[in-house]
Amino acid sequence: MTGICLHSNTPVVGQGRSWFPRAFHTLRVRLIISVALVHVVLMGQFTWEAVDRQSHELRQEMVNQGRSLASLMVVASTNALLSEDLASLAEVTRRVGEREDVSYGEVVDVRGFVMASTREGRVGRKVGPMIEQNDQFPLNEDDRILDLRDEVIIDSSRVGLIRLGLSTKNLENALAETRNRGIQYILLALVIGSIAAWLLSLAVTRNLHDLTLAAKRIGEGDLNARVDVRSQDETGTLARAFNLMAASLHRSSREIELEHRKRTDAERLACVGEMAASIAHEIRNPMVALINSVKLLGNEQLSAEDHKAVSDIVNTESNRLQRILNDFLMFSRLPDAKLEQGDLKVLIEQTIGLVSQDPLYADGISFDCRYEDDNSCLFDSDLMRQVLINLMLNAMQAISGEGKLTIRLQQLNGRLNVSIVDNGRGIPAEVMPEINKPFFTSRKEGTGLGLPVVQRILAQHGTALTITSREGSGTEVAFDLDVESNG
Ligand SMILES: Nc1ncnc2c1ncn2[C@@H]1O[C@H](COP(=O)(O)OP(=O)(O)OP(=O)(O)O)[C@@H](O)[C@H]1O
Ligand SMILES: [Mg+2]
Repeated sequence: MTGICLHSNTPVVGQGRSWFPRAFHTLRVRLIISVALVHVVLMGQFTWEAVDRQSHELRQEMVNQGRSLASLMVVASTNALLSEDLASLAEVTRRVGEREDVSYGEVVDVRGFVMASTREGRVGRKVGPMIEQNDQFPLNEDDRILDLRDEVIIDSSRVGLIRLGLSTKNLENALAETRNRGIQYILLALVIGSIAAWLLSLAVTRNLHDLTLAAKRIGEGDLNARVDVRSQDETGTLARAFNLMAASLHRSSREIELEHRKRTDAERLACVGEMAASIAHEIRNPMVALINSVKLLGNEQLSAEDHKAVSDIVNTESNRLQRILNDFLMFSRLPDAKLEQGDLKVLIEQTIGLVSQDPLYADGISFDCRYEDDNSCLFDSDLMRQVLINLMLNAMQAISGEGKLTIRLQQLNGRLNVSIVDNGRGIPAEVMPEINKPFFTSRKEGTGLGLPVVQRILAQHGTALTITSREGSGTEVAFDLDVESNG
């Protein structure tokens, strides 16, 4: 059997079908109904015409037969009418009456008296109003008789009348039989047509169904999905075109992937080089300070006061080294975010508790927090803590002295907006494009990895940091979070 089948490693999942009322919208049902209707209409028309034609022919034939019989009666009755030979006339009607299709036959004299009849009790009676028309088919619904009349004329004068009635029973039966046969043919055509339409629709829609499944799988990212083409018809052509399209899609996607990989490899290498240079630059100063201090500490003539001063330098510089390495590790090996529903207010309060312990920047800074009634949203608690620490520390470092840090949570467009505003020194416009770059810093003791880490963590939360600032007035950093899981 011709057709197309799916072939792929992934099993094809059957689709649930509701047959009512959607069934009437399917191609299969529409095709069956259309073909069945065409069959019924054509066969109905054909049958109706056949019955009509047969009815006309049979009636014509009956009229001809009746006329012949009436003429025969005229010939057989002429002499008997002249001689008023009732016995001969009775013989004529008796013979006529023997015919199965004769309903009645009568000979009437010129005055209108019945002289012989196939019907009992009619002889001697005066017949009612004469039939005006010959060849008359049923005068009314109940009268199933063809009424005929013929005159007996001798030397141009009428001497009598023949009245003949032929039963239309045979004609009706023949027509009924034709009609019934026609109905049988209509039903047969209906059944055969529906089966043929069903088989046809099965072949067409199954192919379309396979194509739909393959297209769906490609849409879901499985570019290996193909349809197995076996039919040579239009759906086969469509399936072949589909396979070509899928193959070229697959090829293009592989090329793009390769290109992307090449580019990211190159970018990564460039980035690694850049970072290596930055790290070397960052750690060179503390390392030089450390080496010199260690040399000095080896000098036995060093006074106790100088010894303490040099020890302090060793302490500060090794802490600085450790911080640079920690920041760098955080930046280069950021763990994947595990988003969970949590109360951001609690995390903010904890973080304020942490940063307000900072001996260098916390003095003189007041925190103003404004929350919503419901501050629940989706975040990775460890990573979000890092974000808040980096942003709050940046704000505190920008204030350096007396100042205010406002933290506001706000429900906006179905998301929770987080905003941290400081009234510190602000960011100069020319510096603004640089601040998100790794290792950019305007602070002597900064590494310039704080904001890049924040941006990477926020990207994992499906959001980004926006920074608005006016030099001399302050800075606002903001981002928003999903309030609940979308799927
Ligand atoms: N709230 C702010 N106000 C003023 N300037 C800011 C603010 N936040 C960031 N900056 C500027 O952006 C620069 C980069 O910030 P980032 O947090 O990346 O590094 P850093 O703070 O200098 O060093 P690190 O955070 O690694 O210790 C800062 O040096 C500072 O110039
Ligand atoms: Mg910082």
